[in-house]
Amino acid sequence: MFSLRLPGDLTPNRLTRTLSDLRAQGRAILDLTLSNPTRAGFDYPSDLLAPLADDRALIYEPNARGAPAARQAVAHEYQRQGVTVSTDQIVLTASTSDAYSLLFKLLTDAGDEVLVPRPSYPLFEHLTHLDLLVPRPYDLEYDGRWSIDFASVARALGPRTRALLIVSPNNPTGSFVTGAELDRLAATCAPRNIAVISDEVFADYHLEVDAFERAGRMLTREDVLSFSLGGLSKSTGLPQVKLGWIAAGGPPALVNAAVERLELIGDTYLSVATPVQMAASLLLERGATVRTQIQARVAENYRWLRQRTVSSACTTLRSEAGW
Ligand SMILES: Cc1ncc(COP(=O)(O)O)c(C=O)c1O
Repeated sequence: MFSLRLPGDLTPNRLTRTLSDLRAQGRAILDLTLSNPTRAGFDYPSDLLAPLADDRALIYEPNARGAPAARQAVAHEYQRQGVTVSTDQIVLTASTSDAYSLLFKLLTDAGDEVLVPRPSYPLFEHLTHLDLLVPRPYDLEYDGRWSIDFASVARALGPRTRALLIVSPNNPTGSFVTGAELDRLAATCAPRNIAVISDEVFADYHLEVDAFERAGRMLTREDVLSFSLGGLSKSTGLPQVKLGWIAAGGPPALVNAAVERLELIGDTYLSVATPVQMAASLLLERGATVRTQIQARVAENYRWLRQRTVSSACTTLRSEAGW
């Protein structure tokens, strides 16, 4: 009766079962995988979400790309990070997951393949399967710093490859994709009509002083069609507010064609709530206070971990950025 997009076996895995057993016993658990910022002891101003009550949200004026003022606010975010983007390149989404799904609908047909980094964001398995795609892993290797194993990219490529995903900085390795790596990826993808999807949700969380300068930015390139992803979830520690975005980059004619089509897909779902679009500008501005706290915490945790693992049986692998 049910679709093959879903896994056949929904039994929780051993880790999940053990965790719920321990919780049921009331045992104290120190969860080192916790990445929900709203549960990590940060000080969220109590009126942070007040902009969601803006009266303008009482009017429903659907816009498939997203309200112009909200897209302008996202363009300002890029400016803050030193990247110039026009509002015409931006499409709003309800989350990064929503963005992946819209992009898969834009770029792929059932049975097509997308290249995904390994190790990386575990959700790629479900995100690809739910859109009837086959994920093909390519490897990141560690040699004092994480980098892309280009031989594995070449092996993973096939006639049905439609997109290549990068996560920069990557979860969980904390590595940026460098400008030189982007050069090689663009040279691989552009001639084969493969788009690059660049998940940059952790871009604000540097752990090394010059990491950001070394990182390549997809949006600064015109040689390959690309889509950069961001959202409130990580940039302001507000995953529950549900606002993400796609910024398209690359050859201008392809960017226009892509955004026109994204508009049609977006118009079919109109999944971004009006209150969050009206509030976007203020949330991005006020959310900086949460971002600063998270930046300080991750930097402190990383420093602590590095110190504690000196002359121990464990090694802290080098991390440039991320949570
Ligand atoms: C690489 C990466 N992208 C996206 C997300 C989630 O973003 P969203 O809440 O906007 O779907 C996460 C969450 O952990 C992530 O690790």
